[in-house]
Amino acid sequence: MTQLKYKDTVYTVPDGSSVLDTLLDNGEDIPNSCRAGACQTCLMQATHGKVPAAAQNGLKDTHKAKNFFLACSCVPQDDMEVCLPDVEKLKFAATVTEKNKLSDNVIELKLKTDEPLKYYAGQFVTLWRDDVLGRNYSLASLPHVDDELIFHIRLIENGQFTGWVADELKVGDRLHVQEPVGDCFYTQGNPEQSIQLIGTGTGLAPLFGILRDALQSGHTGEIHLFHGGLDASGLYLHDMLTHLAEHNSNFYYHPCVVHANEGMASNIIEADLLEIVSQTVSSPAGWKSYLCGDPEIVKKLRKQIFMAGSSMNDIYSDPFVYS
Ligand SMILES: Cc1cc2nc3c(=O)[nH]c(=O)nc-3n(C[C@H](O)[C@H](O)[C@H](O)COP(=O)(O)OP(=O)(O)OC[C@H]3O[C@@H](n4cnc5c(N)ncnc54)[C@H](O)[C@@H]3O)c2cc1C
Ligand code: FES
Repeated sequence: MTQLKYKDTVYTVPDGSSVLDTLLDNGEDIPNSCRAGACQTCLMQATHGKVPAAAQNGLKDTHKAKNFFLACSCVPQDDMEVCLPDVEKLKFAATVTEKNKLSDNVIELKLKTDEPLKYYAGQFVTLWRDDVLGRNYSLASLPHVDDELIFHIRLIENGQFTGWVADELKVGDRLHVQEPVGDCFYTQGNPEQSIQLIGTGTGLAPLFGILRDALQSGHTGEIHLFHGGLDASGLYLHDMLTHLAEHNSNFYYHPCVVHANEGMASNIIEADLLEIVSQTVSSPAGWKSYLCGDPEIVKKLRKQIFMAGSSMNDIYSDPFVYS
């Protein structure tokens, strides 16, 4: 069994256990969220000992060089000494400038950072309520167009972070934003390539950012956005997206729901999201695909689009993984 030193205490790591589980089981307060290597909330730094490669998947090269690693994915092979990184260098102080309701359970949050934040629309950041509670949210704003960072936050029953956003956070309050990560964003250089953007719920947030970026950049290829909801109330940007599709000849909006409501807009289809995608874009080879939101649906879509002929290199995804 390996030994793990943290803040002057040495713990024994049970066989197969991660650094995160070992420290949490011993009562240490280590930030975490997805516990699946997706969100980077559990970022730690090794001061001694070898970091297993799997614990650095998805980290920036600059972070790898500093021996940063994801505590939830790190099963030590050798003795290690670890600490929390100097997060103050990674975090940006921000002020809440607007909090708007987009639907019964989706809040649009606008934040202004004290220092400018470099990002691409569609990447995600960690929003920190305090030193321990942080959660990922995707950027729906465009850095060169919007003065503020814009997020779409779905309220989760008994959610620690979203409950705080709904009940306590108000305009003027301060919080911290950790630097953006992820490769779900629009890249220039191939303006004629067809694009499909597919998401459920607030998976729309990064897709909306990517869509706006593509349109602003003068993308000429077809752009298809598929947004799935349980019913029409989940299609929280329906009117705006319908309007955009009416005014941009290369943009197609496909809103679809599991359950139809009486009197719902005529362009909303009651159908399975995966079926609508495969019927509309039956040969996605050469297309770029962006998939965001519910982790199970993202996983199924990745497989479906790959099996239909797309290269994995053309599929970008941000599953909203939670523990
Ligand atoms: C890369 C990435 C990007 C993300 N971007 C966004 C975004 O733009 N907008 C957004 O609204 N969310 C986004 N999320 C999800 C977000 O990070 C949180 O997981 C979510 O807001 C719940 O946080 P919470 O603290 O309120 O709930 P918690 O206190 O963590 O969880 C409370 C309970 O709800 C369950 N739960 C947590 N999340 C969900 C969920 N999504 N669906 C169903 N049950 C859940 C938990 O298992 C737990 O039982 C993203 C996640 C990832 C990994
Ligand atoms: S990456 Fe470790 S908790 Fe999410």
